[in-house]
Amino acid sequence: MRKKVTVIGAGNVGATAAMRVAEKELADVVLLDVLEGVPAGKALDIAEAAPIEKHDCKVLGCTNRYEEAKDSDVIIITAGIPRKPGMSRDDLLATNMGIMKSVVKEAAAAAPGSILIIVSNPLDAMCHVALETSGFPKQRVIGMAGVLDSARFRAFIAAELDVSVENVHAFVLGGHGDTMVPISRYSTVAGIPVTELISPDRLAAIEKRTREGGAEIVGLLKTGSAYYAPASGAVEMTEAILKDKKKILPCAAYLQGEYGIKDLFVGVPVKLGAHGVEEIIEIKLNEEEQKALQSSALAVRNLVDDMKRLSK
Ligand code: NAI
Ligand code: 2OP
Repeated sequence: MRKKVTVIGAGNVGATAAMRVAEKELADVVLLDVLEGVPAGKALDIAEAAPIEKHDCKVLGCTNRYEEAKDSDVIIITAGIPRKPGMSRDDLLATNMGIMKSVVKEAAAAAPGSILIIVSNPLDAMCHVALETSGFPKQRVIGMAGVLDSARFRAFIAAELDVSVENVHAFVLGGHGDTMVPISRYSTVAGIPVTELISPDRLAAIEKRTREGGAEIVGLLKTGSAYYAPASGAVEMTEAILKDKKKILPCAAYLQGEYGIKDLFVGVPVKLGAHGVEEIIEIKLNEEEQKALQSSALAVRNLVDDMKRLSK
């Protein structure tokens, strides 16, 4: 039977993810948004490229018709607003929290067996809203951020050494914000620890650029944030689930004691397969890395507390 992926939010990340899912022939796609015309127009445009791109996936775009999400295997949620000048973090948090609640309520009712991949920001906080609203088991609510942050880290390492990106494996853990934790000690190039190939000061500069990777793109685009690499991240996770690949990827997962963190979504390496998060991999961190991860978790916890305050 054909697989089905619904993408909610037909903006930059959502439409790009829908296109990649279809072009990789992973599944039929439903692209859903509150806007009239836009999701249908983008879906039609993607479908019209199919003869050239050579895929037979069906791509449908619709406005608020959640019945179209029925029987989806995976639902990617990108609905929300980006931060605009003059808006506080609380404003963004409150608005996207409201959007996330309404979207997840409808999506979970339409496809109760699906796996949710959350993309909307602030990412880790939005995962909490999705878990609570859906009532899904924690294995089926997963945040996309670590794959993106790690891809940035990998791209910068490959550029530094002038080697293929395919040779570079690297992990970024923690929340999706300034406190994220690139783990150079576990990063390798063709199996060689990156710490043997790049000097400590250059590595520190690459880690800093990784932490500021989102802001670097916003600074260049001016009117929005990154979407090609974020869409690739969401689609890599989707592929791992649909193909039951048991792929180890850094994702925001609900921790209940792992890494000494309880009842919180934080980015950690997980095994992704047909059941969603099938295992949380606990790598051994040194004191400095563990401290950085705890401080990143604290930043996420503060946002979750802010949400509780805003909900009152
Ligand atoms: P965008 O503004 O291009 O698209 C957002 C879409 O959501 C719009 O088409 C809008 O109409 C739609 N939307 C708003 N309310 C909705 C609702 N109730 N139901 C359905 N659709 C609704 O934004 P973009 O660039 O696609 O980013 C989307 C979100 O993803 C933002 O919150 C952004 O910050 C976040 N993001 C997260 C990343 C991560 O690593 N986790 C990376 C990149 C973006
Ligand atoms: C990024 O890291 C905006 O979260 C988004 O590009």
